[in-house]
Formats: sequence, C-alpha cells, structure tokens
Amino acid sequence: MSNLVAYEIHGAIALIALNSPPVNAMGVEVRQGIVDALAQAQNDDSISAIVLIGRGRCFCGGADIREFGKPRLQPYLRDIIDQLEACQKPVIAAIHKTAIGGGCELALGCHYRVGDMSASFGLPEIKLGLLPGAGGTQRLPRLIGIEAALDVILSGDFVATEKAKELGFLDQIIFGDLAQGAIDFARNLLAAGKGVRPVGQMKIDAAGATEIFAAAHKKTSRRARGLIAPERCIAAVESAVTGTIQDGLDLERTYFDELVQSDQSKAQRHLFFAQRQAHKVPGVPADTQPREIKTTAVIGCGTMGRGIAMALANGGLPVIVLEANSEALDKGLGLVRDTYAGSVKRGSLSASDMEARLELISGTTDYTDLADVDIIIEAVFEDMDLKKQIFAKLDQACKADAILATNTSSLDINEIAAATKRPENVIGTHFFSPANIMKLMENVRGAKTSADVIVTVMKLSKTINKVGAMVGVCDGFVGNRMLYAYRTQAEFLLEEGALPHEIDKVIYDFGFPMGPFAMGDLAGLDVGYQVRQHRRKMRPSNDRYSFIADRIVEMDRFGQKNNKGWYLYEQGSRTPQPDPVIETLISGISSELGITRRDISDAEILERCMYTLINEGAKLLGENIASRPSDIDLIWVYGYGFPIGKGGPMFYADHIGIETIHNAMNKLYQQHGEMLKPAPLLEELARSGKSFADLQG
Ligand code: NAI
Repeated sequence: MSNLVAYEIHGAIALIALNSPPVNAMGVEVRQGIVDALAQAQNDDSISAIVLIGRGRCFCGGADIREFGKPRLQPYLRDIIDQLEACQKPVIAAIHKTAIGGGCELALGCHYRVGDMSASFGLPEIKLGLLPGAGGTQRLPRLIGIEAALDVILSGDFVATEKAKELGFLDQIIFGDLAQGAIDFARNLLAAGKGVRPVGQMKIDAAGATEIFAAAHKKTSRRARGLIAPERCIAAVESAVTGTIQDGLDLERTYFDELVQSDQSKAQRHLFFAQRQAHKVPGVPADTQPREIKTTAVIGCGTMGRGIAMALANGGLPVIVLEANSEALDKGLGLVRDTYAGSVKRGSLSASDMEARLELISGTTDYTDLADVDIIIEAVFEDMDLKKQIFAKLDQACKADAILATNTSSLDINEIAAATKRPENVIGTHFFSPANIMKLMENVRGAKTSADVIVTVMKLSKTINKVGAMVGVCDGFVGNRMLYAYRTQAEFLLEEGALPHEIDKVIYDFGFPMGPFAMGDLAGLDVGYQVRQHRRKMRPSNDRYSFIADRIVEMDRFGQKNNKGWYLYEQGSRTPQPDPVIETLISGISSELGITRRDISDAEILERCMYTLINEGAKLLGENIASRPSDIDLIWVYGYGFPIGKGGPMFYADHIGIETIHNAMNKLYQQHGEMLKPAPLLEELARSGKSFADLQG
C-alpha cells in the first residue's frame, strides 16, 4: 500500500488516513493508496464501516494541479469516488480545515460527512477556468439543492462549518477529537441500523429550477463576460436535474476535457501560479521573516483612504484613520459607514459583520495616537511637498520599526523616504479604486527598502485578500506607466480618424470592462488634467502630444461626475452616449494638426493599443522595474481589468507570438516614429526566438 495513505482498524471501523503533506493533494500515489485501502476494508468481514480522514494541514486540497494537461494516470479520481459511493459498507468523510476541489468531490463520494469547527468545503475550479471534474456538478446539487450548489460552484468560494451543516453538506459537527468523533458517528450509524447513502442516488429537488438557472445565466453573462467555464458549470448542473447521474458525469467529463485544453483555463492557471510566484521577490533572501502586523493606520480619509481602511478592516485588522481636521474625519468615516450599509442593503454583507468591521475602524487628528501602530499607509493628495511633510511627522511620531507606506500612484518613493530617517522602513502600497473592492496591491520597493519590509507588505496583501506584486520606482510604476502608453496611442488614433466609442468598443470586445475613454469619464478627467499640467515642463518638446483630453477638461467636461466628458450621460445614468460636440472637436483638432482623417480598422485599433501596452511592459522588464512578466500580468488583470481569460498582456503576447508583435511594432515605428520603437527586450526575444515565459525564472 502507498505510504501516503495509512490504514488503521478500530474495532469494526476501518480508518483510511490521507497522509501526503502539505495538503493531501490527490496525486496518483494517493489515489492508488485509497483504492488499496478501500479494497482491504471491503474484503475484511470484521469491518462494518469506514472513516476517510486527512492527516496534517487539511482533509484534502484536491487534485494535484501539476498533473493538469498531462496524460492522465490510473486510477482516476472519478473512478475512486464511484467506488467509494458503491461501497457496501458506510463510508464517512471526517473533515478538518478544507475539503476543496477534488477533495470536496471525494467527500461527496462518501455516504456521510462530519467535520470539526475548522471544516470548510469549496469547489474553486472555476477560478482556474475549469469545472469540478469528478462528480461535483452532479453530486453537490443532489446533496444541497440546485441554488446553493450553483452558488458554490460559480463563486469558487469556501463554505464554512456552520453554513456547511445548515446546507446539509455536513451531517454532524464534531467537537473534540475528529477521528474519534467520526468513529463514534460510524458506530452510532451502525447501532441505529443505518447503512449506505449514496449521494449520486439522491433525488434532486427541481422546484424553481427554471428560474434559478435563468438567474445564474444572467449573473454570469454580466460578471464573467466571455468566459466559457461558468457557462459549462451551469450546463452541467442543469444536466443533473434533467438526466441520470451517469449522463451527467459523462457530460461533466466532456466539459472538463474541453476546458482543461482551453486557452482561457491555461491563462487562468498561469495567473494562479503567478500569484504564488509574486511572493518570491528577487533579491530578498527566502528565509526573510516578516514583521508582525497587528495594528494599522491610514492617513487621509478621501476616496482611497476610505477604501484602504475598509480593506484593512475587512481583513480583520484594526485601523486608525487620521485626517487633517475633525470635519474631514467625520465626513470620511460617515462615508465608510454608508458604503458598508450599502453592502448590507444589497445582501453582500451581514449587519453583524458590518458592525464588527466598523468596530475595527477608529479616527483621530492627532499623530501621537499612531505611536504604537505597526504600519501606516498614507493616502493624502498627490502632492510631493505634502507627502514629505507627512512622512517627516510620521517619522517623529511612530515607533522605530513601524513601516511607513505611501499610496502614491506615481511619485518618487525614494524622495518621500528621504524625508525620514528610516528609508529602509518606507515602501509604496499602491491600491486601486475602489480599494475595498479592487484586488491589486502594486507594492513599490524604494532603493533602500529593507527585505523584511518587502516581505511584510507582500504578506499584508495576502492577509487582506489582495493580489500583491512588487515593483521598482519609476514614473507611474508598472501599471500607470503602461496605462499612459496605451491611452496615449488611443488618443493619437482619435487624431488620425477613430472616434472614442469606436476605440472603446474594440477594447470592450477584447474583454476589458470598458475602453479607455469610458474609463476616463468614470475616474474623472480633471485629475489627469492636473497631473499633465504639472508635468508639462518635464515633457520633451519634440514628443508627440495629444491635446484632445486637455481641451475637453477646458470645456468643463469632467466625466461622469458632471454628466459630460468624452461622452454625454443622462442625469442618473452611467451609460455613455457619443456626443457630436466631441466628434466635431476631434475632427477640428485633426485639421489643426494637418492630419487627413482616415478609416481605421478594428484590427489596427487593437494592435496599436495592445502592442503598445506589451511593448511598454517589455521596457519595464528590461529596466528591471518589473521583475518578471507574470507580475505585469497580475497588475493588469487585477488592477486594470485586462481580461482574465487572456492571462495578462505578457501572457497574451506569447499567445500571439513575439515575432508577430515585433514585426507589427517595427512597422508602427516606421510609420509613427520613436514612441513606437520596439523595446530592446522585445527585439532580443524576437531575435533569439524566445518568449516572455522563458524569462519567468
Ligand atoms: P482625495 O482627494 O479623495 O483624498 C485625500 C484626502 O487626504 C482628503 O480626505 C484630505 O482631507 C486628506 N488630507 C489632505 N491633507 C491631509 C493632511 N495633511 N493630513 C491628513 N489628511 C489629509 O484623494 P484620493 O483620490 O483618495 O488620493 C489619495 C492618494 O491616493 C493620492 O496620492 C493619489 O495619487 C493616490 N491614488 C488615487 C487613486 C484614485 O483612483 N483616486 C488610485 C490610486 C492611488
């Protein structure tokens, strides 16, 4: 028998224990071990029931995803689950911590499930562009009902112990020793004369099914536009309602095989590994210990400060918010409460969770209240002098090992750090708006930031359920510098013949939630205008520059906030309507510039915008501002809405082919000059026949 699966006898009960650290993943050896142990228990007449338990960190972390996309080895998980279900002796899964993915499906193959107070279950396959491939879509709806099963499968989220019991996933919660509790449960079953109870044979409750599926389709088309996996998940669950278990299992397998080979799933798996890899920051020794973060503070309770404070509280951390005066503080904290109240109203947060989070957030105007705080995140106006003043004050007020972080979206972290006597404790934590929702934290290391501060901030990202990526200092860092390059091309395309809604449509169809102009209107056009005015002097005079955006702001059009920007908005509506005034303005500017407007194809729009984005990413890699292509992918997917099913700009570039992109960039360079010159790294990759994936390290 495999030494990754233990077999013990406790009177009439056999205990099969998965023992494959770290998470009892269902690799081939574990699978074989279960088959052998099950056969042993079935063939032993002295055994009347079987408990399946996981040793170590959790019950079972699911399939070994390193086996995905490779030839499948027998015994298959799906067959093992069938064998468990067909076993003539009752099988009880005993769950602690997590039963996820294949681990959850394994538990569903058992006749009963018990768990301790740490137990949770989930089917996160959707997050990898897959569907549960070992019966999850068929057994879960039979066990807990269609609506709850769809929620679990489509969200990919975990369900905690009490909820799992309420839904009927767990038959009993065990207090005390789990193995003993499960053995007692088995003995009680036998004493009560209860036998096997195969989930696959349970009758499904089809009441309201039509409405439930219609609602699921609607939600999916809105939230997961363009992704195949959610649609396949719904179709598989539908087949659980309409057909036999065998038909459903076969359909699920067909879908799984389709999805596992799909570009979308490959992209999502890439992003999954990218998130793990991002925590290995180059130059930081692997054994660097993070500092402890128990208390936090945020300076400024404006748009970003409020969001950051909520993000910290949502992650269970106490936050002190410091504002310039009590009026601003009261206003800011009032808006925090309103935002939470909105979530309660929509049903996405319970009233008790809202209160618990608000309890964690307190306010002050006095720096001495920050004396013992572990990390302080500054989010005041984007003004270097102001930020320097604040960092000098923090340096005075905060304990020596406190981390001083800034949410600046573009300013030089090294200059800010120089305003303190502890530059090694200064770092950038660049959140995205709204910071309580958006997943990305683009963390920025300064020249002197210490390794343990880097590790601590990356760990903080994880604690508050964000995706962290560490980058270096340059104007705009990675995300905004690339955004600037791409948006600039979009504006030049306007001068050459395209219109805002035409460009936005191409970008939307590519998979972004919106194009650059609709995005500008949402964010507010006045902000970018101020930044551009500020930087005017720094701009080389021979650089091509588009004045359209400036003219629009000078016409008092600030975007959605005053119902007019690149588009018009009806009062109370967020739907952009193309505005003839803007079209006249744009064609007027083309004439001023002596440009004859031409028809620009969708393909050219996409190439100009996306290849420029990729080219800028290649520059950032070449300059070592970004350490690896997958960090850039994380930044663009989780901070800027790059379609998740395309895996981020650099992954997408490999998919298109470096040579194709390099040739297209060269052509653009000849037509438009220096700004579209291929990045040296792109040249090098094209010359050597390599891809961005080859740089991953
Ligand atoms: P905001 O204008 O909404 O808020 C700034 C807040 O700082 C105000 O509430 C103000 O009262 C407070 N403040 C000003 N001086 C202060 C002082 N001396 N002490 C304490 N509080 C003070 O600005 P927003 O949009 O929240 O931006 C804040 C920072 O975040 C900026 O550095 C910005 O570049 C950055 N950022 C903004 C993003 C956005 O989408 N708005 C995205 C990412 C970063």
